[in-house]
Amino acid sequence: MGKKKQPEGIYKNLTSYGDVEFSKYMRRAFLAAAGYDEEDLERPIVGIADTSSDYNPCHRQMPELVDAVKRGVLEAGGLPLVFPTLSLNEVLVSPTTMLYRNLLAMVTEEMIRAQPMDAVVLMGGCDKTVPAQLMAAISADVPAISVVTGPMMTGSFRGEPLGACTDCRRFWAEHRAGELDELEIREVEQSLCPTAGTCMVMGTASTMACATEALGMMLPGGATPPSGAGDRLRNAVASGRRAVGLAKADARPSTFLTRNSFMNALTVLSAVSGSTNAVIHLTAMALRAGIRLTLDDFHEVSSRVPVLVDCKPAGSGYMEDFHNAGGVPALLKVLEPVLDGSCEGVAGRSLGEMLADAASPGSWQSTVRSLDEPVAPPGALAALYGSLAPDGAVIKVAAATPSLLRHRGTAVVFESAEDLVNRIDDPSLSIDPESVLVLRNAGPIGAGMPEAGCLTIPKRLASQGVRDMVRVTDARMSGTAFGTVVLHCCPEAATGGPLALVRDGDPIELDTKERRIDLCVDPAELDRRRAELVQPSIPKRGWANLHGRSVLPAHLGADMDFLAPDNISR
Ligand code: FES
Repeated sequence: MGKKKQPEGIYKNLTSYGDVEFSKYMRRAFLAAAGYDEEDLERPIVGIADTSSDYNPCHRQMPELVDAVKRGVLEAGGLPLVFPTLSLNEVLVSPTTMLYRNLLAMVTEEMIRAQPMDAVVLMGGCDKTVPAQLMAAISADVPAISVVTGPMMTGSFRGEPLGACTDCRRFWAEHRAGELDELEIREVEQSLCPTAGTCMVMGTASTMACATEALGMMLPGGATPPSGAGDRLRNAVASGRRAVGLAKADARPSTFLTRNSFMNALTVLSAVSGSTNAVIHLTAMALRAGIRLTLDDFHEVSSRVPVLVDCKPAGSGYMEDFHNAGGVPALLKVLEPVLDGSCEGVAGRSLGEMLADAASPGSWQSTVRSLDEPVAPPGALAALYGSLAPDGAVIKVAAATPSLLRHRGTAVVFESAEDLVNRIDDPSLSIDPESVLVLRNAGPIGAGMPEAGCLTIPKRLASQGVRDMVRVTDARMSGTAFGTVVLHCCPEAATGGPLALVRDGDPIELDTKERRIDLCVDPAELDRRRAELVQPSIPKRGWANLHGRSVLPAHLGADMDFLAPDNISR
């Protein structure tokens, strides 16, 4: 933890008028108009980064949570000041929230730096909000604590539990296959998201919440309480109180985040069989802290840590089951032998000290398993290399079909997500269950890296009972999705990566055990194709232009090169 220094309060980051005392006088005058008196202005200031938005149903109950954080700050003697930032919801932002993660990170960092605050509470939830806010706070290096909105409660369809969005996809696939009619799919649609909160399976939002708790940037037990629950509110109050303590201790992220803090987060990522998106987000967050995580780090941790949490999409339960079984503290207790207990965090105690007081998961539950009786063996996530991905790719083994993990098939290529939509159900498309679907130009530069990687199974094959095929792409896939999908192929097609050279009918070979994904075409022929390549142009203006010119490749976290440390370039 950092050396103690007095919080600077309202006089931190003074507006520049060329006269310091005038700047203070002006600040007091305008805050007086907002009802703050001398006594208020002597307190440490806790900024609250608020991502409430009508465009973000996952954050619908955030205003109540913000009030709870404010109460905690006031109780501890601080002054809470809420400020708005962008808000990103996965299903209401086009073409993809990933295009805007770095913009949210940049806006949040700039506002933390520009406004007076001795600590910040980061209010997030939906997928990109949590990593973006943490990237910001790590770079700004102010005391920071993460609070999430929490997962939705589970829904129900004709007696069967329902969870967004693993079951969204399962039922949609059944509907496309003709097994669910219009009325039935409408009934499912109305039951998938029964409450406010984030997706209630181990999708990206829940994965990032669990990883953040393991990293030490959230109070223990903060990742899993459902949205609207009393313990969700109590976590918010406690986080507000703790933020004042962090401000007084000057406990900036740089004083406690280490490589092993991130390795602890990777351990939890493997144990929950979390979203592949977390690979990109944790890499970007670590890079902001000057720590280089590689795909091999993720592979290595995954190869020794089994899946311990029975949660969809890799398992059968939901986030409320995980929460009721003890949540992340119970999981960390099981993982204690493989964690670095000396790591510290916002709670102000080492992980080891906290785990000494933590209870082991009860024998009455089956959601959090022991190391001896896991949900699945180690290896839920694998990093692949090969002629189709010289800089690496990832596959979520735990969500794949075992018989497809070693597969050779011929390519059916889609140039973009739009091309996919236009042709996937074309009756003249030459495709069979052995084909390998390729989606390209969907990486960070090509399209902002949408979650389009889990390509829809063609209707014709779906109606014959085909539920999975090998897919290869430079796109991402939702953490709630399942299938044998090779993701994040680097270098991406838009920069001339090998994915850009694939043609319909080319043989592609996946060998997960050997960690290979190969395009089986004569190198001389690939050189000929490379010479003919016309690279797509990037958008002409605005954020999309800045993003296209500066975004780093997926294996480096897809941050902007000018926000990452100096020695990282694309
Ligand atoms: Fe917001 Fe899933 S759409 S968490």
